[in-house]
Amino acid sequence: LSRSNIIQRFNSTSSGISSFKTAAKKSTAQPTLSSYVTNNGKKNVVILGSGWGGISFLQHIDESKYNVTLISPRPHFLFTPLLPSTPVGTVDEKSIIEPVVNFAVKKTKGNVSYYEAQATKINHVDNTVTIKSFSHVNPFGSSKNADSIKKNDSADIKYDYLITAVGAEPNTFGIPGVQEHGMFLKEIEHSPKIRKQFIENIEKANLLPKGDPERKRLLTLVVVGGGPTGVETAGELQDYVDQDLKKFLPSIAEEVQIHLVEALPVILNMFESKLTSYAQKVLEQTSIKLHLKTAVSEVKEKYLVAKTKISDTETKSEEIPYGTLIWATGNKPRTIVTDLIKEIPEQEGSRRGLLVDETLKVKGLNNVYAIGDNAVAGLAPTAQVAHQEAEYLTKVFNKNQIGSAKPFKYLHYGALAYLGAEKAIANITYGKRQLYTGGGVITFYIWRLLYLSMIISWRSRFKVMSDWFKLALFKRDFFKEL
Ligand code: FAD
Ligand code: NAI
Repeated sequence: LSRSNIIQRFNSTSSGISSFKTAAKKSTAQPTLSSYVTNNGKKNVVILGSGWGGISFLQHIDESKYNVTLISPRPHFLFTPLLPSTPVGTVDEKSIIEPVVNFAVKKTKGNVSYYEAQATKINHVDNTVTIKSFSHVNPFGSSKNADSIKKNDSADIKYDYLITAVGAEPNTFGIPGVQEHGMFLKEIEHSPKIRKQFIENIEKANLLPKGDPERKRLLTLVVVGGGPTGVETAGELQDYVDQDLKKFLPSIAEEVQIHLVEALPVILNMFESKLTSYAQKVLEQTSIKLHLKTAVSEVKEKYLVAKTKISDTETKSEEIPYGTLIWATGNKPRTIVTDLIKEIPEQEGSRRGLLVDETLKVKGLNNVYAIGDNAVAGLAPTAQVAHQEAEYLTKVFNKNQIGSAKPFKYLHYGALAYLGAEKAIANITYGKRQLYTGGGVITFYIWRLLYLSMIISWRSRFKVMSDWFKLALFKRDFFKEL
């Protein structure tokens, strides 16, 4: 199938096997695809991203009123709150992802299509999005009439309304060596990489004699960033060491040292001080070494440089050798977002994402909306914000209130964080009303219950429950290549 001068249309045959046919001739190298039934009178809504914002929007939009197209390079939704549990196998990676098509095929009342593709440019003057396809069988979903493109091909998708929910990417702050030597925990594929490196280091260390500095280095894990990602990841790693590794390699387990490095004077600074002090105490009791007021300034292959603030004028520099480095210092906007910001005068100077008005419309544009981590709405970049923004926006769309909607109002349900050793902290609220504040083992079970209720598919909920049940009876699955 030559891509150069044709538009290909996707047909879903009765046998379920995809076939392609030429629909029209076009002279330009990059065809414009309109992934909806033309002339059906409905507006075309294009969603970018299959995360908390994009999938929540897809779930709630009334597809009988709009032709819906979702574009994302990631063919699954990821339940991020349990991602820190996966590197050590507390929860299986597959338990917390859900294929996009499982959401798309439920939308049977209209045209819904999914392109496994990356949006590379938002052409706001032409009302198109340029995409690069990641898959041959495109698009996938309930729409029988959407156009198709081949793997690695580019095309422009036309929209009447664009919902951008592309999230954000790990921020290294340009610190030298982080990209080359550090590992992130943002997407599901990061998880087995961390596990593999940790296992390989355990294997190598086991061959070296006790007291060998190289053995000590290999058994040192450094987590940089004392936000919830860093704390939960450090806690889960320590759980593995204390609850599993100790049983079959006790001499190795007692030498594993986890460091948590945080630039601020406290970890988990979104919680009140009573809870953060408790969290610090729990981490230290489980033998995680905390480095507060300490910023990592450089990363080398086998050690990193950390600078601790001693007073307003004085810092102490230290080299920390490591075998595994996990970088969790927060996020920055993606290129597609920063590129768009540069083109819109009303967005000038915005560093954290797309500035939106009170109805989540991107400032300076008429038909583009931003939700989740790629939007700057004065709220924290969290799943609950992304989910509520998506719900609000779909209500506006479903009730045909575009342009006349009431402002978005966020309702804060609080925050929870797992610390390790079956202890968690929680501050559960209903808006400004405090419902529960606490830390410890009971809070850990509350944490589990609430996270189960937040999981957005029954398949995934069932799998997570069975992972936790399995953990009560057996060790974690901790395989190098799986
Ligand atoms: P994401 O969920 O990141 O989704 C972005 C989507 O866009 C992805 O599908 C991505 O593949 C896609 N995409 C990227 N680039 C493109 C492109 N160019 N074109 C098209 N698609 C693109 N929040 C909480 O409230 N509670 C928690 O317990 C919690 N735990 C977390 C744990 C971890 C380890 C992490 C990393 C985050 C956690 N968060 C939590 C934060 C939460 O995950 C984010 O705020 C949330 O995912 C934001 O949703 P989003 O839709 O904006 O972005
Ligand atoms: P974060 O931005 O919350 O925390 C990053 C931390 O890294 C900050 O405390 C910062 O001071 C520190 N830091 C930055 N540069 C550093 C350096 N060079 N050296 C040492 N420390 C450095 O990032 P995180 O944890 O990834 O969270 C991102 C978002 O996701 C947040 O909004 C968070 O609330 C949300 N989230 C929520 C969770 C929960 O509710 N349980 C779990 C994970 C994430």
